[in-house]
Amino acid sequence: MVCLGNICRSPMAEGIFRKKAEEKGIDITIDSAGTADYHVGEHPDPRAVRNAARHGVDISHLTGRQFSKDDFDRFDLILTMDSSNYDNVLRLAGNDRDREKVKMVLDYLYPGQGMEVPDPWYGGDAGFEHVFRLLDKAAERFYKENFNK
Ligand code: 4NP
Repeated sequence: MVCLGNICRSPMAEGIFRKKAEEKGIDITIDSAGTADYHVGEHPDPRAVRNAARHGVDISHLTGRQFSKDDFDRFDLILTMDSSNYDNVLRLAGNDRDREKVKMVLDYLYPGQGMEVPDPWYGGDAGFEHVFRLLDKAAERFYKENFNK
């Protein structure tokens, strides 16, 4: 799960996708990272932590890290939150196999439309709730499509 800062959208995505995997009995490794290094080592934004907690998802212990080229070897799939993250991740890809791993997370919800998870950083709590709902729905589709669960 990749966004810009790794303190709002991608840690929410990590928590949501992990909780659903546990509930559905799916064995999957999920992590998140930011394309930027601004918040490396920090916990998620308090607004993201609060919103996720309201939905029963604990992301308070996560810590920010920057996406690196090695992630292409560590993961089968790299889901980006917006098109800027998508472009920045693709730029680090070394070959076609890497490039094929990169997808927009909302492609599961709105196939082929290039829809983005909006950056909630500059807004209020409503923006975080909107992000949570989008990611929650995308996760449901993702597990249905890939695991039939
Ligand atoms: P995120 O949100 O990419 O969803 O983690 C942001 C967090 C921090 C900044 C921008 C977006 N920032 O500019 O520091």
